[in-house]
Amino acid sequence: MSSYYITTPIYYVNDVPHIGHAYTTIAADVLARYHRLRGEDVFFLTGTDEHGQKVQQAAAKRGVAPQQHVDELVIRFEQLWKRLDISNDDFVRTTQRRHTAVVQEILRRLQAQGELYRHSYEGWYCLPDERFWANDEVSDGKCPECGRPVERLSEQNYFFKMSRYRERLIRHIDTHPDFIRPEARRNEVLGFLAQPLGDLCISRPRARLPWGVPFPFDDAFVTYVWVDALVNYISIPGYGTDEARFARWWPANVHLVGKDILTTHAVYWSTLLMALGLDLPSTIYAHGWWTVNGEKMSKSRGNVVDPGAMVDEFGVDPFRYFVLREVPFGHDGDFSRDAFIGRYNSDLANDLGNLVSRTLTMIERYCESRVPQPGPEDDFEELVAATAREVDNSLRDFQFHRALQEIWIIVNRANRYIETSAPWTLAKNPSARPHLDAVLYTLAETLRHIARLISPFMPQSARAIFESLGLADVPNGGPAAWGVLKAGHPIHKAPPLFPRTVTPHPVRIVMDIPEPTVAVSPTPQLAPIGIEDFAKIDLRVGKIVAAERVPKSSKLLKLQVDLGTETRQVLAGIGTKYDPEALIGRLVAVVANLKPAKLMGLESQGMILAAGDKEVASLIGFVEPVQPGMKIK
Ligand code: MSP
Repeated sequence: MSSYYITTPIYYVNDVPHIGHAYTTIAADVLARYHRLRGEDVFFLTGTDEHGQKVQQAAAKRGVAPQQHVDELVIRFEQLWKRLDISNDDFVRTTQRRHTAVVQEILRRLQAQGELYRHSYEGWYCLPDERFWANDEVSDGKCPECGRPVERLSEQNYFFKMSRYRERLIRHIDTHPDFIRPEARRNEVLGFLAQPLGDLCISRPRARLPWGVPFPFDDAFVTYVWVDALVNYISIPGYGTDEARFARWWPANVHLVGKDILTTHAVYWSTLLMALGLDLPSTIYAHGWWTVNGEKMSKSRGNVVDPGAMVDEFGVDPFRYFVLREVPFGHDGDFSRDAFIGRYNSDLANDLGNLVSRTLTMIERYCESRVPQPGPEDDFEELVAATAREVDNSLRDFQFHRALQEIWIIVNRANRYIETSAPWTLAKNPSARPHLDAVLYTLAETLRHIARLISPFMPQSARAIFESLGLADVPNGGPAAWGVLKAGHPIHKAPPLFPRTVTPHPVRIVMDIPEPTVAVSPTPQLAPIGIEDFAKIDLRVGKIVAAERVPKSSKLLKLQVDLGTETRQVLAGIGTKYDPEALIGRLVAVVANLKPAKLMGLESQGMILAAGDKEVASLIGFVEPVQPGMKIK
């Protein structure tokens, strides 16, 4: 069985767990669950970083011993991971003996191999970052990394001969394109390595900082907190204590890290591994940072996003879904309540939630709550198989948002299938029974596949769908083949998956679309134009984010349309066809360079495309996923 070892950074136990910590941990959890689903043997490790000056100071401030302090604080992380359904196989704490013993063994080995030396050192020290800076790196007495004041320190310390591994590391990065990802981060690391690389100070004098792993051969020192922390990736899978186990897991497949700690991983950790004669991990993936409403998240700004509070309000799965769907992994992203609520309403309550409840309701109503007989299934078998392949490609490439977009193509296709096949009409006609059964079977089996595909992302929702389909006891809802649900199998309609209509946007309601009644005018009606004339029209994808009726008009709606980089007000004469609430979240085609015009005293800054003549029959929409602002050509 192939093995898959994935890690998160170990979090400073002093920190209040926030969306940044939850982000990496959820991403790692999705990958761990996905690889388990594929039948691989998975080891997923997370934990807490518990030594160092900051912990020591915080404990002193509270008047408790550092060990008691960390024992109390670690609970916040352990509990949050439980709430977020994190399926880690182990939880490392750097104060555990199983870890500290390995840190000491590694120092012994490095010392015996001549990789360390003791040296007197003077430099600028940043206390919060716990690191030294050289004279030319510091200006105005401020830390070049965090901007806080540095102090002059002179002390003896142990150094690791990191500089000797510089060229080997550059060669490794050059020859292993997947080692540092995404590509831009890889180039950053290569840029860093193009400069001379110093040796790494790996100790702190005990007199100044007693809260650390003691040096095994020199009582006067403790281990630099980063060296201590990085070693967790090998201490827990058994380095130096259980060689067979270690051989099973090392080298790790993935270290997921935030972009701020890439250098410590790509350079310090890699060179330490080289000195120990160990292989390097296959991939170090650096993800981006979350801002909140466009601002840096910080305690002093009071804008730290508490995952626990989001879960209380919206549930676990919507939070897991949002953080991975909203921002391409590797990019920075912005968190806002509005964006969260928008996705909740459109993707979850409306798209997935409605699909589940409509399908189950119809099977309950038309088939006495039993899976009906299958029949021709209108390409869904092919679609789910192709999607599973795309999800696989996307997850191998860490593109969680793309995997979800792919899954939502099925969700949306299935919703449209309900509308086009109109089971409520088929149900009125006894001779249409086989067709009705085939449609509902296809929908039920498609739901099973959707639940399988979302299960790494949204384990609780997947479980709820399996339960509704009577598959609670079937591992992963059964195999990936088509046609697993058996006719006659009982299903149970459950309460809605994403029940609440969360303000400010009302839930978009999927309506049964009647046959068009608008007459079609003959073509062609206008004189031909050249492509250069057509190219003058700037057509864009827009997303309707707000909609209301214009007072005293039965036809005009006032829409706010997100064009990716700006939101425009557009007036559209579609009010007899559409209720404003039904339009929220809808993607439309917009003429973006139409001169602004006034209609009933209100400015319209664009035009929305629709089919129809005097009467609108349908807004123009998209079959595959698109983003607001994309060009239409
Ligand atoms: N203890 C070290 C890691 C040692 S790993 C051997 C550490 N801990 S931390 O708690 O400060 O940060 C942990 C992770 O949280 C980092 O990967 C960091 O990038 C991430 N984040 C902190 N704030 C973040 C955001 N605002 N957004 C996304 N991730 C962020 O560093």
